[in-house]
Amino acid sequence: MSDPSASSSTSPKWSSDRFFQTQSAPSNLAEVSSAASEFVQRHIKEGRRVVLVTSGGTTVPLEKNVVRFLDNFSAGTRGATSAEYFLSAGYAVIFMSRQHSLAPYTRHYSHTTNPFLDLLADPATHVHTDSPASTSGEDNITVLKQHVAHLRPILSAYHHARTSGLLHTVPFVTVNDYLWLLREMSRVMQPLGRNGMYYLAAAVSDFFIPSTNVPEHKIQSGKGSLVIEMDQVPKVLKPMVEKWVPEGYLVSFKLETDPNLLIPKAVGALQRYGHQLVIGNDLNRRKFEVVFVERLSNTPAAKTEERGGERPVERLHVEGEEFSATWMRLADSSPDEVNEGGGKGGEKELEEDIIRELCSRHEQWIAKGTAGAASR
Ligand code: PMT
Repeated sequence: MSDPSASSSTSPKWSSDRFFQTQSAPSNLAEVSSAASEFVQRHIKEGRRVVLVTSGGTTVPLEKNVVRFLDNFSAGTRGATSAEYFLSAGYAVIFMSRQHSLAPYTRHYSHTTNPFLDLLADPATHVHTDSPASTSGEDNITVLKQHVAHLRPILSAYHHARTSGLLHTVPFVTVNDYLWLLREMSRVMQPLGRNGMYYLAAAVSDFFIPSTNVPEHKIQSGKGSLVIEMDQVPKVLKPMVEKWVPEGYLVSFKLETDPNLLIPKAVGALQRYGHQLVIGNDLNRRKFEVVFVERLSNTPAAKTEERGGERPVERLHVEGEEFSATWMRLADSSPDEVNEGGGKGGEKELEEDIIRELCSRHEQWIAKGTAGAASR
């Protein structure tokens, strides 16, 4: 950014080591880490699988006293929806999400898609005759009868998640917080070994402004146009796979707007980082179509045909390696028909199928580790 007092960075390419050595950690990192560690240790003792779900978009502040920041489109729908299905499948979930983005269960009643106050009867006019609990008009507010069937299962799943201790939330705002927290959650989950899954659905900024280049105060407009120079955010998937959680089952997402790039970029990510699965999604079709891209040699237990079932599977040979691309679609859906507030009591959601598939792949990943240990 054109701030004369700021020194410019030496290189636009950052390694993750350089990032963590020079960019400061969130001030509450130790507390967040210890709460998450307590959560993970409890579930290890109880023999439960744990998944880290990242969700929502990261910001890039333009000032230290932040007035302006860069953001992205992600509302956190994919992550919040997926977290619900992981909980239903018996996983303990660390839900690491952008502050104020969509959250499991409450997402069904976000202010835009299904405003909560619209579910409630007007206390001034409503006659309380529906149920014994609502007879005292002064003390009770009534949910309109037509909304009860949709709300009831969501409310009970929400209460179960709150009281069972299966859901732990970790908020972030900036890309800097995100990277620090991702590393910390990986450290905390590392003892899970193969029982840990990492589902990286957050929309992470590819560019950031190193702290030495961020002005302290609000950028003044008097000097005319603003030129912002940003450095490339280090890709942390590589250290995650190699050092942080080498035994974990790692799923990353690949977002593109050009459908022709989706599979090649997903294959490229698998080649570069060596993790287990990339789920590709096109920005405009993401609510009803994704593609699972995997290295076949990495998953010998499953035949492509079994994986795909009824689903179309493409086999790809790239630089001597074989990959599969399996499309998963919501049958007979179009973008207009797919309801953001689906799920419990609503329309079918793509995440239901995604999570079912992932649970089965994770099961195989664990079995493969056990078989490997037994044969040593
Ligand atoms: O929230 P919604 O509106 O429902 O939208 C969901 C979604 C489209 C955001 C989601 O499905 C999705 O695609 N998320 C990933 C988008 C993204 O950031 O893609 P990417 O190409 O920048 O990154 C690819 C992967 O690398 C991601 O899994 C990311 O977590 C990881 N990454 C990214 C940056 C970085 N510095 N290090 C990383 O490891």
